[in-house]
Amino acid sequence: MPIIAPSLLAANFLRLQETCDMLNASEADWFHLDVMDGRFVPNISFGLPVIEQIRTTTQKTCDVHLMIEEPGLYAEAFKKAGADILTVHIEACPHLHRNIQQIRQLGMKPGIAVNPHTPIHLLTDIINDVDVVCLMSVNPGFGGQQFIPHTLEKIRQLKKLIEERKASALIEIDGGVTEDNAAQILGAGADVLVAGSTVFKSKDPMATIAALKNTQPIS
Ligand code: DX5
Ligand code: ZN
Repeated sequence: MPIIAPSLLAANFLRLQETCDMLNASEADWFHLDVMDGRFVPNISFGLPVIEQIRTTTQKTCDVHLMIEEPGLYAEAFKKAGADILTVHIEACPHLHRNIQQIRQLGMKPGIAVNPHTPIHLLTDIINDVDVVCLMSVNPGFGGQQFIPHTLEKIRQLKKLIEERKASALIEIDGGVTEDNAAQILGAGADVLVAGSTVFKSKDPMATIAALKNTQPIS
């Protein structure tokens, strides 16, 4: 079964407690928390104090997706705020290996996020050092965008790389995931589905999470 990681970016921030209660009661596995700095991406979302509050409501994995420049400056603060997984963008990190080591030394699981234009082969020499690769299936910065179909090919390439290198990184797909394309995404080899709008704009978010969780892969 896939890991389901609802993205709270699409949630109602006035009702965060209710949202966390719903997610805790649901089949969701991770809380996907999108942090944007208005520099790496052309949008600003939420940051440390919000994550700190969310952390107090849940035992589930807090999967923090940093869409920020110089993430190394803040890794320790995100650990303190309660991040379990800390994902940085390959495009924002000239010293990626150092960033990944720092995240692990702080006691978190490191992840690398990859923009739609970034080729999979750039992960060759770092794949054995990370727990998660987050393939962006939209351009990061906004929820509610359309899934980029070429991502399916990238999932297959990444799966092959992970197998070849005997790595254990999970493949996480972020952006435009719906009940309609989930089966194909899983069929291509994804392990984790992030879903913002699909979950929170649906009539029954809990049922939508259950539907995603029970999706059968098709190739
Ligand atoms: C986009 C974020 C996503 C976003 C996904 O930059 O990284 O996690 O919330 O939203 P949907 O599922 O609506 O595409
Ligand atoms: Zn994200």
